[in-house]
Amino acid sequence: MATTPQKLAILFGGTSAEHEISLRSARAVCEHLDTERFEVILCGISPSGLWLDQATSAALLAGEALPQDAKLAASRVPVLPNGVDVVFPVLHGPGGEDGTLQGWLELLGVPFVGSGCVGSALAMDKALTKHVLRSCNIPVVPWTDIRRREWDQERDAVLANVMKRHDKFPLFVKPTAQGSSVGIRKVKDESELQEAMDYAFEFGDAIMVEKAIVGREYEIALLDNQGEVLISEVGEISTADWYDYDSKYTNDTAVLTAPSETIAPALAGHMKEHALKAARVLRLRGMARVDFLMEKSTGRFALNEINTLPGFTSISMFPMLMAAAGVDMKQLVNRLVDAALERAKPSAGSA
Ligand SMILES: Nc1ncnc2c1ncn2[C@@H]1O[C@H](COP(=O)(O)OP(=O)(O)O)[C@@H](O)[C@H]1O
Ligand SMILES: [Mg+2]
Repeated sequence: MATTPQKLAILFGGTSAEHEISLRSARAVCEHLDTERFEVILCGISPSGLWLDQATSAALLAGEALPQDAKLAASRVPVLPNGVDVVFPVLHGPGGEDGTLQGWLELLGVPFVGSGCVGSALAMDKALTKHVLRSCNIPVVPWTDIRRREWDQERDAVLANVMKRHDKFPLFVKPTAQGSSVGIRKVKDESELQEAMDYAFEFGDAIMVEKAIVGREYEIALLDNQGEVLISEVGEISTADWYDYDSKYTNDTAVLTAPSETIAPALAGHMKEHALKAARVLRLRGMARVDFLMEKSTGRFALNEINTLPGFTSISMFPMLMAAAGVDMKQLVNRLVDAALERAKPSAGSA
């Protein structure tokens, strides 16, 4: 017997620096949707934060330039079309992945894919992630947290503290809550430090300085799967220097291997244990990509960051790792939606 298709709203675009990446992820999701199961409702958000009607959303997804804001049939405040059964936020970065949107969806009472307000907020803020994980004995990269007010009012003291804590270069300077390597610089000596910190503050009110881990970069994908967590093998990213925006999206210099061919099985096992534990303590659900750095000289690894809405194109690590685990893109979307609907059932337990 034919069943009525579920109305699935795909949210994409948005105001973050990762607008373009969201479009790419959303195209990949739309390409692999189960068309018998879902009626797709496209909900595009312009870079200026306008919530677009469906026709304009389709144009945005197709890569067409949008008319000026004043000429758009769009809403300044978030709106969902009537009758939506479930929402898939295919948004990366602030305003989409950081818990604000998730809090709104929770208030509306609409089921949605991925982590909720608390988990999304914790994972988006790299410093909060580290505070929580460190308290659970999950290794994290040593870092210093700096707020804008401190930088504006006590710059010399902040710099002295950074130099005291991190006397060896290179260092990484990053905005605390961004993605896609936006705002990040690798700093090779003290002369580059201040400028890198000023630059990171262009992308948020909190930044961090971190010891650079020289070695290898690994990623693990997690997926809620019928009440259990499916954990992928460990994937590896190889780059000429570090995984910056260009190596992620514009030149083809980063090599993604899923699963990694170099990692020792015991190390992979430890990483997986930590990835599962991290997802549990941060209250994550639906999906997550947990990223690690391994220091060549010591063989030690540390958790670098967690993405609750990881890149979703067919050449992104998350779908690659899932494909290697036997879950293709179509199944992936189906399972994510299933998990969202399951959680929304009145009888469902807490996440
Ligand atoms: N402490 C570090 N040591 C070595 N490489 C780092 C460090 N921090 C970041 N990187 C490099 O920068 C990239 C982006 O940093 P990351 O913290 O993952 O931010 P984003 O959320 O923008 O992806 C990483 O994939 C890695 O290549
Ligand atoms: Mg990253």
